[in-house]
Amino acid sequence: MDRALFEAASAVRLRAHDRYSGFKVGVALRTAAGVVHTGCNVENASFPEGWCAETSAIGHMVASSDPGDGRRIVEVAVVATAIGGRPTTPCGGCRQRLAEFGSPDTPVHCYDPEGRGATWSLGELLPQSFELKGRR
Ligand code: THU
Repeated sequence: MDRALFEAASAVRLRAHDRYSGFKVGVALRTAAGVVHTGCNVENASFPEGWCAETSAIGHMVASSDPGDGRRIVEVAVVATAIGGRPTTPCGGCRQRLAEFGSPDTPVHCYDPEGRGATWSLGELLPQSFELKGRR
């Protein structure tokens, strides 16, 4: 994985608002325009109202980029501690959100803060994703 992407995800992970789970997640995504956007999880006292790091990063991307290459995700890094020896992977809802802006071959690197982990394509993580329209 690209070192800069891992470093960006690791740095934003430390900003997580994780006061209920104590589980910090950082995400960095690179767009086809070559820009990196980051995000962390933001929890809430009303538990279902919290949101994931992937969602934060996508929100930053959309808020700061025009449609086109600036909103096409070409690489994703997720950094969080492994659970039971398995890398932390995006939840189901975030897989669908990533699919909105990525493609089935978009690599999703899932690493722990020490740099150990694995990479899956978005298509492996979410086969047969729901689509209303063709690729933007
Ligand atoms: N979480 C993420 O931010 N991204 C993931 O890929 C998995 C889970 C967050 C949601 C919640 O704040 C905490 O991790 C524990 O579930």
